[in-house]
Amino acid sequence: MYKEQNDALLEIRRTYGQLQLAETKTDGLSLPDRLRAMNRPLLAWYGSHARVLPWREDPQPYRVWISEIMLQQTRVEAVKPYFERFMEALPDVQALAEVPDDRLMKLWEGLGYYNRARNLKKAAGLVMSRYGGRMPSEYSELLSLPGIGSYTAGAISSIAFGRPVPAVDGNVLRVISRVAASREDILKASTKRRMEDALRQTMPADQASSFNQGLIEVGALVCVPNGQPKCKECPFFSICLARQQKLLGQIPVKTPPKKRRIEERTVCILECGGQVAIYRRADTGLLASLYELPNKEGYLKQDQLAEAFGFSEGDVTEITPLPEAKHIFSHVEWRMKGYYVRLSGGLPGDCTAAGKQQLKQVYALPNAFGAYTKLIK
Ligand code: ADE
Repeated sequence: MYKEQNDALLEIRRTYGQLQLAETKTDGLSLPDRLRAMNRPLLAWYGSHARVLPWREDPQPYRVWISEIMLQQTRVEAVKPYFERFMEALPDVQALAEVPDDRLMKLWEGLGYYNRARNLKKAAGLVMSRYGGRMPSEYSELLSLPGIGSYTAGAISSIAFGRPVPAVDGNVLRVISRVAASREDILKASTKRRMEDALRQTMPADQASSFNQGLIEVGALVCVPNGQPKCKECPFFSICLARQQKLLGQIPVKTPPKKRRIEERTVCILECGGQVAIYRRADTGLLASLYELPNKEGYLKQDQLAEAFGFSEGDVTEITPLPEAKHIFSHVEWRMKGYYVRLSGGLPGDCTAAGKQQLKQVYALPNAFGAYTKLIK
C-alpha cells in the first residue's frame, strides 16, 4: 500500500514537473490560435502606427505593384523618390509596356537587380495583351506574370483588391517565426509555404490589406532585422514565444548563404574634351544591357592600360590612380582599382562618348561604378 501511494505521488510529481516545463516553454496556444491571436492587436496597432507612404495614399494596383518591386530592393526612404519619378514618367501599365529599354534602365538606375525592371516591362506587356491593360486581382493570375512571386502576388491582391491572401516576405517571416518561436530556416521555400498556408487560415478575411501591411510595418519598425527588437512597443508583446523564452537572438534561423566569389577589376575613366568613354554591356548576364565604364578583370599596372583599354600612350596628357572601391552583388564581389586617364587624340573608336549631362540623363550606369562615376570631372 505504502509503495502504491509512493508511486502515485511520484507520478503526480513527474506530471507536475512536465507541466511546469511546458509552462516555461509555451503559454499553451496552438500555432493557429497564436496566429489568430495576432489579428486584433495588429490591426489596432497598425491603425495608429502606419507610416504615410505614397503608395498607401492611393493604393491602385499598378502603384502597389511598382512599389512592392522597388521595396524588394531597398529601404522605404530610398524608394520614395524612385517611385515618384517612375510614376511621373510611366503613369500606367501601357506606358510601362511601351517604354524603350534604355529609358526604363535609366529610371531604375541605382536600384540594382535590373532584371526586376525588365520583368516589370514584360509583365506589363502581358497585362496589356491578356487583360486589356487592367491588372488582374486574382492571386493565381498575378502569380503567372514574370517577376511576380507569392509575396508580390499576395501584396497586390490584398492591398489593392482586398483579397484575403497573405503576403509573406523576409520581414513577415521574421515576425511570425519569433511570435511562434519557430526554428525553421526562413530561407527555405518550404518554411515560407507553411507560413503562408497557416496565415491563409487565420488572417482576418475582411482586413487583408491592413493585416498584411501591419505585419510588414511591425517587421520594419519594431521587430527589426538588425539590432534589438523593440518589444515594449510591439503589439505581440504578450503572445510572442521567442520573447518569453529569451530566444530573440536565435530566431529567425537563417542558414548562412554561400560565400561570394571575389573578382578583382581595373576601371578606367577615359576622358577627352569633356566626354568619357562608356560601353554597353552584353544583353545577358550580370548588369545585362546597361552601360559601364571601361573595365577589365584583374589589377592592371599603369603601363598595361593603353593596350588593355585601346588608347595610345602618346595621347595621354594625364594619368592618375583613383581610390580603390568595392561593390557587392548577390553572388560576386568586385574589388576595383581605378585610373583617370585624360587623352588628347580622341576616345577609343568602339566606345560611346558621353558628356556629363548625358551620363546623368540618358545612359544607365549601375551603382557598381558609382565610386568612379562621381569622380568624373
Ligand atoms: N516593404 C515591403 N512592402 C512594403 C509596403 N507596402 N510598405 C512599406 N514597406 C514595405
